Amino acid sequence: MTLWQNRLSSPPANELMEFTESLSFDVRLWPYDIEGSRVHVLGLKRAGILSEEEVAQLLKALSQVEEEFSQQTFAFLPSDEDVHTAVERRVTEIAGDVGEKLHSGRSRNDQIATDLKLYVKRELLQCLRSLLSFAGLLADLAEGAGDALMPGYTHTQRAQPIPVAHYLLAHGWAIRRDVDRFMATYTRSDVSPLGAGALAGSTLGLDPAFTAAELGFSDVFANSLDAVADRDFVVEVLFDIATLGVHLSRIAEEIVLFTTEEFGFLRLDDAYATGSSMLPQKKNADIAELARGKTGRYIGNLMQIMVTLKGLPLTYNRDLQEDKEPLFDSFDQMRLQLNAFTGMLATMTFDYDRMRQAASSEYMQAVDIAEYLVTTQVPFRRAHGIAAGLVRDSLERRVSLSELVSAHPQLGTEAAHVIEADSAVRRRNSRGAASVASVKEQLSRFRRELEGVAEAVRSLSGNG
Ligand code: ARG
Repeated sequence: MTLWQNRLSSPPANELMEFTESLSFDVRLWPYDIEGSRVHVLGLKRAGILSEEEVAQLLKALSQVEEEFSQQTFAFLPSDEDVHTAVERRVTEIAGDVGEKLHSGRSRNDQIATDLKLYVKRELLQCLRSLLSFAGLLADLAEGAGDALMPGYTHTQRAQPIPVAHYLLAHGWAIRRDVDRFMATYTRSDVSPLGAGALAGSTLGLDPAFTAAELGFSDVFANSLDAVADRDFVVEVLFDIATLGVHLSRIAEEIVLFTTEEFGFLRLDDAYATGSSMLPQKKNADIAELARGKTGRYIGNLMQIMVTLKGLPLTYNRDLQEDKEPLFDSFDQMRLQLNAFTGMLATMTFDYDRMRQAASSEYMQAVDIAEYLVTTQVPFRRAHGIAAGLVRDSLERRVSLSELVSAHPQLGTEAAHVIEADSAVRRRNSRGAASVASVKEQLSRFRRELEGVAEAVRSLSGNG
C-alpha cells in the first residue's frame, strides 16, 4: 500500500505507479534516508512524541533495514513508490505499530530535500578531493617541465613562445576556480531542511536546529516554504560540473591536437589510448574526445533542472522529482571522467624538443622587436609598423629576421640578441607573465592556495 492510499477510494492504476515512481533511481539515497530517519526519531523523542522504548525499537528496525540494503537482501514491493516509502514500510513490518509513528511531523518533502543535501555534501567532498589531486598533478607537470618552451597560440596560430609550465598552470587556475565554486556550493548545501514538514513546519514541537546539528549541517532553514521548494543547490552543483566539464573539454581539445602527428607535442601512454577496429596504425585519444563529448551532457543536465524549476509555484510540486537523475548523472560521469583524465595526464609524455622547435620560429618575436623600439622612444604604433615591415620583408626575400634586425639602422645586433626566444621569454618577467622566473613564483602561489583548500576539505570531511 502507498503512504497515501487512505485518502483515495480505489488503488492506484498501474500506469500511474509506473509513470510516477522514483524508486528505480532514488533507491541509491537509502543511506541518507536512514540517517535522516534516525535523527528524526531522536527529534521526536526530544519533543516527547516517542518514549525511550519506542525510540529503541525504531532505531533497531532502522539498523535492520540498513543491513538489508547493504547486504542487498531488501525485498521491494510493487507499492514502494520511492525510497522513503520502502524504508518506512519495512520499518513498520519489522517494528510493528510503532513504525507508524516514524513519519510524525515529517513529510517526504522535507525528507527528500534532506536526503538530497546529505548526498550532495558527500559527493561534493569527493569531487573536491579528486579535483585537488588533478590540480596537484598539473602543478607537478608544470614543475617537471622546468624551463621548456612551447608556442603560445591565439587563433590556433603560433603567437609567442611561453614556458610549458605557464601553459599547464593556465589550465590549473581554471581548475582552481572550479575548486572555489565547489566549496561555495558546499556551503550553500549545508543548510538542513528537516523539520519544515510538508511546507509549514509542525505543531509537534520539533526542533529543526537539533536535527540539523545531529545530521552535521552547519545551518538550518529560515523559512519552511523555501526549505522544501529550494533546489538551488542542485542547480549550482550542475553548473559547477558543467563549468568544470568545459574546462576539461578545452584541455581535451588540446590533447587531441597536440597528440596528432602534425603537432607531435604529446604522446599518450598505451594504457590510456585506444586503437581502431579497422586501421591498424591508429592510436586514438578517446578519453579526451569523450571528455569533450560528455560536456554536452553536463550542460544538458544543467538546462534540464533550470527549465524544470522555472515557473514552479511554491512549494513542493512533483516536478521536483526530476531533479535527481541529472544530478546523479553529472556526479557519476564526472567521477569517472576525473579518474580517467587524471590517469591520462599523469602518464603522457611531452616531446619537449618538438615543442621547442615549434617555439623557435623567429616571427614569434616580432612584438619584441616592436617593444625594443619602444624602449628607444619610438611610439608603439610606428614600432609595430617597422616590425611588421621586417616580417614581410623576411618572408618575401627569404632572409632571416635576425639578419634584417641586425642590419636595421634603428635596431642592430643588440636588438637581434634581445629577440632570441630564450631572451625574449626571460624579459617578460612581470607578475603573472610568461618568464620562467615569473612562472616559478606562480607555481608556488598555486601550490599554496591548493594546500589551503585541501586543509579546508579535510576539516569538512572530518565532520561531514
Ligand atoms: N519521490 C519524490 C521526489 O523525489 C519524493 C517526494 C514526494 N512528495 C510528494 N508530496 N509526493 O520528489
